[in-house]
Amino acid sequence: MISKSKICLILTSLLAVLAAVGIIYSFKFISIGTQGHQIDKFIKHAGYYQLKQIESQSEDGSFTATLNWVKGKREKELRSSPVVKDLRVTFKVDANDECQFKITDLNDSRFHLPENEPYPFTKQRYANKQKEFNLFETEISQVGQKFFFELRRKSTQEIIFSTKDFPLYFTDKYIEVTTQMKDSMIFGLGDRRTDFILKSGKYSLWTRDAADVDNGTPGKEIYGFHPMYLKRDIANNQFQVTLFRNYYGMQVDYEQNSHLTYKVIGGNIDFKFFIGDSNPETSIKLYHNYINGWILHPFWSSGFHQCRWGYKNSDMLMDVWNNYNKYGIPFDSLWTDIDYMYKYQDFTIDFERFNITQMQQIYNLQFCKQTNKIIIFFFNAFIVRSDPKGVHWSSIVDVGIALDSDAAEKGLDMNVFIQSAKTNQSLVGKVWPGQTYYPDFNHPNSTEFWYDGLKNLSSYGISQDGIWIDMNEFSNFVAGEIVPSQSLIEKIKYFLAIDQPTLPFNPLGLERIDHKTLSLDSKHYSGPQGILFNSSNGHVPTQYDFHNLNGFGEGIATYKAAQKLGKKLTFILSRSTAVGSGKYVQHWNGDGYSNWEYMKLSIPSIMNFNMYGIPFNGDDICGLMHDATAEVCARWQQLGSLYPFSRNHNNNDASSQEPYVFKDHPYVLSSTIKTLNVRYQLLKFYYHLFVKGNGLGTIFRPLFWSYPSDDKAYVYETQFMIGDYLMAAPVVKPGNVIKQSTNSCVYIPKGGLFYNFYDFTEFKEGEHCYEVPFDSTLPLYIKSGKIVHIQDKQKVLRSRFLDNTFTLMIALDENNFASGSMLTIDDYNSDENIISNCVDNQNCVVDLFAQGKLSENNMFQINLKIEQETEKTTFQTILIDKLVVIGIKTNDKTYYKTIDLSENPLIINRNNLQFDVQFQL
Ligand code: NOJ
Repeated sequence: MISKSKICLILTSLLAVLAAVGIIYSFKFISIGTQGHQIDKFIKHAGYYQLKQIESQSEDGSFTATLNWVKGKREKELRSSPVVKDLRVTFKVDANDECQFKITDLNDSRFHLPENEPYPFTKQRYANKQKEFNLFETEISQVGQKFFFELRRKSTQEIIFSTKDFPLYFTDKYIEVTTQMKDSMIFGLGDRRTDFILKSGKYSLWTRDAADVDNGTPGKEIYGFHPMYLKRDIANNQFQVTLFRNYYGMQVDYEQNSHLTYKVIGGNIDFKFFIGDSNPETSIKLYHNYINGWILHPFWSSGFHQCRWGYKNSDMLMDVWNNYNKYGIPFDSLWTDIDYMYKYQDFTIDFERFNITQMQQIYNLQFCKQTNKIIIFFFNAFIVRSDPKGVHWSSIVDVGIALDSDAAEKGLDMNVFIQSAKTNQSLVGKVWPGQTYYPDFNHPNSTEFWYDGLKNLSSYGISQDGIWIDMNEFSNFVAGEIVPSQSLIEKIKYFLAIDQPTLPFNPLGLERIDHKTLSLDSKHYSGPQGILFNSSNGHVPTQYDFHNLNGFGEGIATYKAAQKLGKKLTFILSRSTAVGSGKYVQHWNGDGYSNWEYMKLSIPSIMNFNMYGIPFNGDDICGLMHDATAEVCARWQQLGSLYPFSRNHNNNDASSQEPYVFKDHPYVLSSTIKTLNVRYQLLKFYYHLFVKGNGLGTIFRPLFWSYPSDDKAYVYETQFMIGDYLMAAPVVKPGNVIKQSTNSCVYIPKGGLFYNFYDFTEFKEGEHCYEVPFDSTLPLYIKSGKIVHIQDKQKVLRSRFLDNTFTLMIALDENNFASGSMLTIDDYNSDENIISNCVDNQNCVVDLFAQGKLSENNMFQINLKIEQETEKTTFQTILIDKLVVIGIKTNDKTYYKTIDLSENPLIINRNNLQFDVQFQL
């Protein structure tokens, strides 16, 4: 028995502990909170900038002006961040639909990134600029008055940007600028997992290793940095893009239909505006052109991928590979996560667990067309393999370099690691292998260092086809860094968060800004040979300046290394990205949970990355964390079968989720096979959209992209378009387990007409609801007026076995017309073939036009015209051996008709071809 007094003692001690913890925590928050306080005190009595002088004005509407600060009567000086009293405003007309508004200090001496590659920069598009051709006009305050700047669309008087009636602060470490936001909706401002239409809220922009859903609370952003938004002016249905060209940490406070405020901890005020029209794609293409476009991935990477953290040895890989082969699930790549490394050290393979002979059997490296065999590079010799089941090896490389590894030794010799300001040595953090250094991708030796590592990895007899760069925010399991001789006092300070960087404003709200990343005062290379920026003026760039570009820098180094290793079209999957990353890497959405919410939110994330210029993007199918249920996994496989990048990926401690493991729920396997067969039927069609895009524009889009004037189309955020051709309405909610089916709906926008992709039934405008069995393919529709080319002959299990024979699905519109396009190359497996015929200034696209005509006796005639897209189009031979003509309307009925041309296929091998095909209805 415990006596009463003992109970009392226990309770009192418990209370004391709770109180202590409470005090410690309030301290913690007070210490964070006071930082925000400083700025609030300043703002309360702050003065304003007045327009001092217009310095210059040009004929195209460009101008420069100066501002000076008029101090507030009771203004409190912000000691940690003094006001920059004299400023220069620059407004530059870059084209009739593109302009820039900038505020800098008078000498433009603050650290900012250059306007040339690899950063976004203005491309010369128009030689003669005259004010009257501009789609926009500006207004600024009078000299001597409080400064404001307003940019309007000339034709509608829509306010694109206006600081009128809002405060403007420009201090050393805190800048605040606000624009009006009336009658509009915006999309973008990532990286975050949230709905596509952005809600009112406070959004942080600071690359972070996190898996949060962000509904507008500071500190919930995730891996990437994309301070751009697409805005729709609702009244006039016009679109434009605004990019805040500032790479520092920031918080954006957005109040729908009111205003949007940027609160940023450094740099300049620098906005780029792209003025589009009623088609959102116009603005996005202008934006992509500015951020240097996106790179084309190799064809094999558009196949399906299987991955998990937890394939601990090559027996497990073999088992997955055998199962995929046994069940006939199409796939192109089997991934290894950090498991394959020796002690989680980069550029190593643990040969005790990973048997190289087994791996060589699983992974083929190249497909040799001439011999119809698979060949692999092995100690510089070609070994010819005959196993057609080989897949590509994609594997992870983390950014942190283990302290006790060979790579660390090399890196120290080459002096390539980020330097600690506290120890004046290479900064030490912590990731999977334990203590790690972090490469400074600005260091002149870093490219060579990174290449050396990747080369080492390809010297073991297998070589990576896909390179997965992870943890590159840079992620660190301790805040800031590990300082070896940390005293007890320092440890307590750390726990109380007293030692966190002092900022006048914390863009992450209550979360410390160096949480799970590097110390902000740590240093990058400074000097004229900087890879990412040369600071010849002596400025030593710190993590404070550069944090949001960590992943961007690693992406470039990896791209250069991959090229040097002989890869032609590269596939580099990067978790962290920034404005302009799409020129070098592809992306997946990072960590999420195996549940309906995350499945659903994967769709707006992929749409967002299409806007950010990384259209080859996907989410972890079946979800990374926690165990996936059979129903979630089946629906996710169906949805993910049309992600641009399609990969099932799982966490170390979650139960297996390969499609065949759900033995009690065989529908997971059967629906996966069915739906992946559809992906492979469409694989060349999907890829052709990327080739045709030639680095600009979106592929995986919201429904409203094709119907921007239908307000209701904006509501259906989980329906997505593939180009302007196909529309999917995935099931993203639980259904009836007894009936093994879900009631789901599709919305067809006003004026829209679609056909079911599988049975060609007609869907007219409005909402249609139906049952979708758990065991089904992704609900998919083809837009009327479009021609989609598919390959429906054989069940192909690897992308490389798809031939050059196609079926044309011709979905006629009300005028019996349809159009589309396709590639004129016969070999998608050779990167060289694609590069030399299709990329940059080359062209390998033909446009297809089909005109149908009903004649007497119920005869129907299709006239098919093939025209090269540009004069430079090159032709290899492709064959059309089937037509499916959909939406043939007679007085009483809508028909579809399949015409088998296998005996006499249409041969496309030159420009200006015409074919007439007649058939009886
Ligand atoms: C974090 C990545 O986001 C995840 O996909 C991966 O499995 C783990 N790191 C382990 O490498």
